Amino acid sequence: MTSVPPTPRPDAPTPVPVAASAAVTAPPVEPRDLEAAARAVLPAQVYDYIATGSGVEETLAANLAAWRELALAPRVLRDVGRVDTSTTVLGTPVSSPVQVAPTGYQRLVHPDGELGTATGAAHAGSLLALSTRATATFGELAGAAGPWWLQLYVLRDRDLTATVVERAAAAGARALVLTVDTPYVAKKARSTAFPPAAVSPVLVPELRARGDEGVWQDPGVTFADLAWLAEVSGRLPLVVKGVVRGDDARACADAGADAVWVSNHGGRQLDGAVPTARALAEVRAALPEEVEVYVDGGIRTGRDVVRALALGATAAFIGRPAVWALATGGAAGVRDLLVAMRADLEETLALCGCASIADVTPDLLRPAHPHR
Ligand SMILES: Cc1cc2nc3c(=O)[nH]c(=O)nc-3n(C[C@H](O)[C@H](O)[C@H](O)COP(=O)(O)O)c2cc1C
Repeated sequence: MTSVPPTPRPDAPTPVPVAASAAVTAPPVEPRDLEAAARAVLPAQVYDYIATGSGVEETLAANLAAWRELALAPRVLRDVGRVDTSTTVLGTPVSSPVQVAPTGYQRLVHPDGELGTATGAAHAGSLLALSTRATATFGELAGAAGPWWLQLYVLRDRDLTATVVERAAAAGARALVLTVDTPYVAKKARSTAFPPAAVSPVLVPELRARGDEGVWQDPGVTFADLAWLAEVSGRLPLVVKGVVRGDDARACADAGADAVWVSNHGGRQLDGAVPTARALAEVRAALPEEVEVYVDGGIRTGRDVVRALALGATAAFIGRPAVWALATGGAAGVRDLLVAMRADLEETLALCGCASIADVTPDLLRPAHPHR
């Protein structure tokens, strides 16, 4: 067991400060129900902006389906009278392997925005990756008190990029997550004119004031820039997000990455990209053991989390479900979702004959199409 404090069960929630606009009736906590509940309360254009994938949404659909193609082969006659879901991510103790992925513009869905998400994650014992396109300031986040990482886009204005990194390090970020699958923002299938200029990122004041190309992603970023980022951040651990190939993963590690995050941006960048469930094993196999591997994209249940762990992930991140939870329930909604996913994971582990995260090994999986 780690030193993570006990976290509440869904039936005994701890009070969390939430905005006045939070739902008056208890919102659902199952990811599949949350999306429908969020759709009912959000303006159609905002819902579409979050739900959409790129292209014709091939990868968006494939991400979800690919986890389910991996059947579980449970072990029996193991003592699962006590199941421990706790683990560590880059040395930070967390109550379960489920963490919150970076998503931009969270004040579109709830007045508390990223502060609500950070508070909910902290109360559930999970960590948050904060987007470069966050609509909260570093100062506001300090009040959330949980562990957080900064997700970074290298901007065309490198001085501004360095400023964001330096301030994140000073504000207490525990790692830097460089997103590398977005040299350009792909055309979305739905909600193409979003987000509106009125909801601008405010992480540092210099970002708020800028509407020029300097704040766009720099398409010229290469492996050589990893050393520069490590330097600018004062050697914060560096995670590279958006890798789906073994050779790229190895090159990231050789260039100094401490962890590699398998992601296709939730099907929002290259449509037709390999679903993450099918990329994970290749990435894990290409890396030395000490380099951690994370995954996101279509993770919705405790079963999906066990599948990700069995393929070699240390942590699984959720994107859209956390946004739906924020939209419907503010900080408490995010906390309840993470607690419910942990309970689902706990049940899955027990039924798989696993008493801890360390018991999850590749032999638990039976691919539906072993020769594909
Ligand atoms: C509305 C939205 C905004 C996002 N913004 C960012 C971002 O600013 N930076 C980033 O690295 N990824 C971003 N992502 C991708 C997520 O971090 C994550 O990779 C993806 O949502 C995981 O898939 P899931 O939504 O199926 O869980 C965004 C995703 C969504 C849905």
